[in-house]
Amino acid sequence: MMHKLFSNYIEKILKSYNCKNILEIGVYEGATTIEILKWCSKNNSNLTSVEPMGWSGNIPEKYKAAHNDYGCINPRFLSGRINKKFQNLWTVKKELSLNYLKKEKKKFEVVIIDGDHNYFTVKNELESLKKNLADNYCIILNDVYGKWSRKDQYCDIRNIPSEFQNSKKQGVMSAIEEFLDANHGIKVGSLTTADLIINEIKYMRYKNILDKIKGCLRIFRMGSDNFMLDTFYDKYLNTDLKDNVQILKNKKTKNFFLILTNKDYGLGIITNKLEIITKDFV
Ligand SMILES: C[S@@+](CC[C@H](N)C(=O)[O-])C[C@H]1O[C@@H](n2cnc3c(N)ncnc32)[C@H](O)[C@@H]1O
Repeated sequence: MMHKLFSNYIEKILKSYNCKNILEIGVYEGATTIEILKWCSKNNSNLTSVEPMGWSGNIPEKYKAAHNDYGCINPRFLSGRINKKFQNLWTVKKELSLNYLKKEKKKFEVVIIDGDHNYFTVKNELESLKKNLADNYCIILNDVYGKWSRKDQYCDIRNIPSEFQNSKKQGVMSAIEEFLDANHGIKVGSLTTADLIINEIKYMRYKNILDKIKGCLRIFRMGSDNFMLDTFYDKYLNTDLKDNVQILKNKKTKNFFLILTNKDYGLGIITNKLEIITKDFV
């Protein structure tokens, strides 16, 4: 699904952050990967992808092996397209994200998390990534909205400690919430209520405003206990988004959490440079 968001969101983010080092967790058939590789080749950047599955098809041998007994697929968007230029800028780690992150010291401006969509994995990916974030960073996460945002999916449940398997706390959004609270003092609050507000605004009353920003932008300010949604929407409904961005900037806020949603998906963004992102979405 994430590849459908490339031109609207991901590409703009890569450009805004003047991204030189990109990390992608979860490749599957390579639909997003191929777009990032194309972008990297035009912008003198490099990509590291982490994926445990083995690959068949017309792929350079060095990328094919699987991690342990993980299955094998043909990554059809990559097959026959990995030329020398792409090979020079692309590193593939055939392992589980948490094992890889334990060892990795490199810093990344943009990290795309779309691997094993469960609370345990995402929570630990976020914790482990703290040491790998460049001065201006942006973490993009999939599945933060809709029915899967609070439901665990397990690629191989044997990788999940038993106390976290199908436990009370589930889903990517629960992991993000806990991470933001513990690390940035931000309480996202009841997203159930927030979702209702957003749906009402989006589909019934303010559709034309939201169309302008290609989705719904929710902003939570980190570094305080304030749940920013109400304030944000108060302003948002009466002014335009640019004014709100300015207000947030003036408060010297340091880290932000945004959700970009439409009825099909929710893209979560954790960043310390809100203005970099919003200038492209308003
Ligand atoms: C939702 S798909 C990725 C889709 C891809 N990002 C796109 O836009 O088309 C999830 C991928 O993550 C991989 N995966 C599962 N567990 C993982 C882990 N622990 N670390 C890294 N990748 C993982 C799966 O094998 C699968 O290929």
